[in-house]
Amino acid sequence: MWSVRSVSVLLLAVIASAQGANILGLFSSHSQSHLIIHMSVAKALAEAGHNVTVVSMMQPKVMHKDIHLIVVPATEEQERIMDEQLTTMAGQKNSAISTVSRLLSGMDVMIKAQADLLSHPSFQRIYETKFDLMIMGYFLNDFQLGVAHKLKVPVIIDWMTAPIPLMDEITGNPSELSYVPNIATSATQPMSLLKRAENLAKHLIIQYMKILFDIKVSRIYEDIFGKDEILPTISELRRNVSMVFVNCHLISEGPIRPMVPGLVEIGGIQVKDKADPLRKDIAEFLAKSPQGAILLSLGSNIKGTAVKPELIKTIFKVLSGLKQNVIWKWEELDNTPGNASNILYNKWLPQDDILAHPNTKLFITHAGKGGITESQYHGVPMVALPIFGDQPGNAEVMQSAGYGLSLDLLSITEESLGEALKEVLENEKYTKAVRKFSSLYRDRPLTAKQSVLYWTEYILRHHGASHLQSPAVHMNFVELYNLDLYVILLSILFLLLIILRLVLKAMWRKLRGKRENHSKKLKTH
Ligand SMILES: *[C@@H]1O[C@H](CO)[C@@H](O)[C@H](O)[C@H]1NC(C)=O
Ligand SMILES: *[C@@H]1O[C@H](CO)[C@@H](O)[C@H](O)[C@H]1NC(C)=O
Ligand SMILES: *[C@@H]1O[C@H](CO)[C@@H](O)[C@H](O)[C@H]1NC(C)=O
Repeated sequence: MWSVRSVSVLLLAVIASAQGANILGLFSSHSQSHLIIHMSVAKALAEAGHNVTVVSMMQPKVMHKDIHLIVVPATEEQERIMDEQLTTMAGQKNSAISTVSRLLSGMDVMIKAQADLLSHPSFQRIYETKFDLMIMGYFLNDFQLGVAHKLKVPVIIDWMTAPIPLMDEITGNPSELSYVPNIATSATQPMSLLKRAENLAKHLIIQYMKILFDIKVSRIYEDIFGKDEILPTISELRRNVSMVFVNCHLISEGPIRPMVPGLVEIGGIQVKDKADPLRKDIAEFLAKSPQGAILLSLGSNIKGTAVKPELIKTIFKVLSGLKQNVIWKWEELDNTPGNASNILYNKWLPQDDILAHPNTKLFITHAGKGGITESQYHGVPMVALPIFGDQPGNAEVMQSAGYGLSLDLLSITEESLGEALKEVLENEKYTKAVRKFSSLYRDRPLTAKQSVLYWTEYILRHHGASHLQSPAVHMNFVELYNLDLYVILLSILFLLLIILRLVLKAMWRKLRGKRENHSKKLKTH
């Protein structure tokens, strides 16, 4: 008896020493959808007993009672401009490239707000705690790597989607332009000649914008941390990042591509393993939906009212005429698009739990990565109404995978929307395809939560992970692509050709000389 107890006490002690690390989560993006992903990572760690401190700019929707939360809001002026920028983007068509270029040129405020945060007194308090690890939610904030440098802790970067070129660069992951479409190119594999050309062109544009961005970010970094005596450059700090978490699962989602060990997939971290019980009004509404229910959400960045009123009217007309019940995410409850017995408006919806409900038959979405992931996880087909950023790309990939249809939100009509809804609700092929994906997506050796926990504790145990880093991180462009070697080989080949030519010339001359001599001799005879 005694020995069993002492063993279990010992075991507890071992577990306690492996756990209870002091982890800093620096999640300063002004976007609730980014924050949901980062907070899900923090929550998984807090649930496992780690002492997690999170710094964010807004109150997160995902929380855990043991997380120490420090909210440092942006100034009112900054908030206003950031909201405005997100709203203007909703008003016009946006290609991924124009969005990226706007992010880089126009998003000074987003960058500035994240820089200001570091000198705020509430933030300065974090330097009083001895941390073991920092997790940085990435969004135009590379200069914040200086915080980890000051704390002398390893860094994990958390990124919201599949790897983008910058995450490839940080981990030394190959970009493979000939068969891996980048975020700006919406394409399925394999790519045609034209798509490959598009992919290469967009890659070069992104690289160019990255150079401009680097200059900007380095300047901010030096402004903030320049007082320290020995300041590593920002690229040195990037090369010192231990690991990057990416929110994807390639073998079910594609595109298939190489992944170095420093890139770890945690796709679906924000999706709960088990649904929470639904609020009473929603649960009753769903239970009373014998024909099935539809969930409509146009995202958390853009308030429903930022979309043109005519479009909202069109959506309302079509939905109020359906036999299915509709749950509509709508911010202003005293100013709804209209009253209908089959529509329930709600400000903040437990989207994930509603999608998990067996009566939910369709999801109408703005095609944010998070919403699509949840819908795919639960096997619910979609009608996408993308607006900007990565949404049109997400929607196109979703449609070509056969999980639903995509319409351009700015040009929908009653007919086009009505037809798309009817098709997805009545043609079984969409539901079948998305259910098949759902079973592939859940089939993994470690769940997303387990991956976060395992790899974070791995980094803690080994105080960083330089041993698993790709050597490509420390090679320059010339070395990485063996350009020096090719130049040497070409030079040797060239040299050999010259020598060969000289030898042949000499032999030719000798031969001719002999023949001439010979013929001369013949003539004289
Ligand atoms: C947990 O983190 C907070 C900082 O947010 C710190 O004040 C506290 O001392 C930590 N607790 C332990 C047990 O280290
Ligand atoms: C919808 O009904 C509510 C009361 O239930 C009412 O206050 C509101 O004005 C109605 N809206 C419209 C557009 O008819
Ligand atoms: C690099 O990371 C290690 C932990 O992985 C950390 O101890 C060290 O301070 C970092 N170096 C710099 C220059 O920040």
